[in-house]
Amino acid sequence: MKALILSGGKGTRLRPLTYTTAKQLVPVANKPILGYVIDHIRDAGIKEVGVIISPETGEEVKRYIDAGKRWGIRVTFIPQSEPLGLAHAVIISRDFLKDDSFIMYLGDNLLSHGVSDSIKKFRKESPQALIFLKEVDNPKQFGVAKLDRKGNILHLVEKPKRPPSNLALVGVYIFSREIHAAISRIKPSFRGELEITDAIQELINMGHDVRSEILDGWWLDTGKKDDLLQANTVVLDEYIKRNVKGSVDCNSQITGRVTIERGASVRCSTIRGPVIIGKGTEIANSFIGPFTSIGDGVTVRNSVIEHSVVLNNAFLSGIERLEDSLVGKNTRVIRKDTHHKALRLMVGDDSTIEV
Ligand code: TTP
Repeated sequence: MKALILSGGKGTRLRPLTYTTAKQLVPVANKPILGYVIDHIRDAGIKEVGVIISPETGEEVKRYIDAGKRWGIRVTFIPQSEPLGLAHAVIISRDFLKDDSFIMYLGDNLLSHGVSDSIKKFRKESPQALIFLKEVDNPKQFGVAKLDRKGNILHLVEKPKRPPSNLALVGVYIFSREIHAAISRIKPSFRGELEITDAIQELINMGHDVRSEILDGWWLDTGKKDDLLQANTVVLDEYIKRNVKGSVDCNSQITGRVTIERGASVRCSTIRGPVIIGKGTEIANSFIGPFTSIGDGVTVRNSVIEHSVVLNNAFLSGIERLEDSLVGKNTRVIRKDTHHKALRLMVGDDSTIEV
């Protein structure tokens, strides 16, 4: 079995972060989302991995994966000139995939459990496709599946007005080679993309066996700011351990599961976990509250931060209270001690500021 990771796309919903960073490299608990995806693939024992990359962010993705040495996998990068759809990504990967079965994993999706058990199930039952589903509260926003009693998929609908179930398609699929014939029979959708949902429906129409796996753990699609904050909360809650490698002075208090990386320093501050603080970051006279990830090389002075993500090399000073926020790389957020009430902003395109 091979793996195909989709790490192209435009990432429009996460602008402005995605003007300078691939969506799949945005960190959750200080680790790029793509890192969790590759961990799952490696843990399932897959060695041959294809990665779809875009012209805009491909070099950055290549640099991060660095030919897969860290994971002990072999990586083939597959450039996609435009995001023409998930099924289009499969078409351009045919030379890499050949006639092998493969797991397709969207590079911006996070699953609580790995994929090893599902791959075992696919090998044992040998259907033509195994699709991951998750019960959701708002099925109208997703591709939705209708199942028979045995869990076989009867049909799929993209963003239905009247959903036939609350089972949404998660961004992970396992296919046998029959998917290529199904893709060759579909046409681009109204949004101009070759949709994988249409190809799976075509597999069903062709009489193939398409089974499903309903996830009981969490599934996070990191498309927008609030999704990303939620992903950060869930991952910190689940994975962060108490591990203090940086320096903490005697006027500071560290409570609960807090990771402080090497070279970071905490002075006259309180940190209440789960929190992660990156390498070389300085925290002084501040309170860092639960569910906060602070990247590398960040400075925080005289501030209160809670339930937020602060990316590398940001500088925050005098901020009375920052909550539910996402602060980009190299950003400066400063309160000046003047009586003048005016805000002075230099804000990137597509930003949101609530004052
Ligand atoms: P989407 O979230 O559907 O698309 P996007 O990344 O362009 O995001 P936005 O809607 O914010 O503009 O894509 C899901 C994943 O698949 C994501 O990791 C990007 C990747 N992808 C490709 O690699 N090639 C494609 O043709 C498409 C459509 C997506």
